Amino acid sequence: MAEMLLNPRVLKKLQEEVDCVVGKGRMVEMADLPKLKYAKAVVKETLRKHPAAPLLVPHLSMEDCELQVELSCGNKRSYHIPSGTRVLVNAWAISNDPVRWEDPDRFVPERFMRPGLEEEVDVRGQHFELIPFGSGRRICPGMHWACWSSHWLALPIASSGRSPRAEWMPIESI
Ligand code: HEM
Repeated sequence: MAEMLLNPRVLKKLQEEVDCVVGKGRMVEMADLPKLKYAKAVVKETLRKHPAAPLLVPHLSMEDCELQVELSCGNKRSYHIPSGTRVLVNAWAISNDPVRWEDPDRFVPERFMRPGLEEEVDVRGQHFELIPFGSGRRICPGMHWACWSSHWLALPIASSGRSPRAEWMPIESI
């Protein structure tokens, strides 16, 4: 919500999409969601820039493993992680890494609409540059519910006039 109020351009674009897909006379419904592509990109960009669990939850390695990491300079570095190590995954640093993401400090939902790799990146644990719900066997089981309810948080802002709660509008400057 804060990002949209701080980025009037994004809010306006979201409002235009809602007006175009839903029209002015009714509230957003479940069946509208697949057509709200920009809203989906806004939710993804929010989870990228502000992952709710920046360090996921602590994990414990069950067996020895070797991890090979390619550094931005092209060199490779190996890490030996012994069994029983407490592992914290810094999901925030990954999704805000300037090597992977262009202008990571900016809130730009359009990055998820560019044809090519970024358009395909999603939050379901298959693309390791964006893992707000973790990945693998312990991935968040509430992921789909969480994504769905995030739309319901974002869309009333975009549908001001339809929202019974508030008339949302961008702030000129803070
Ligand atoms: C935006 C909302 C949410 C975010 C960002 C989030 C994120 C996460 C993350 C990062 C983990 C740890 C994954 C890992 O270990 O790698 C997790 C675990 C979990 N989440 Fe969520 N979650 C959200 C909403 C929900 C909801 C709505 C539910 C339930 C309805 C839920 C239930 C759980 C449970 C039960 C686990 C533990 C899974 C396990 O350890 O096997 N989460 N969540």
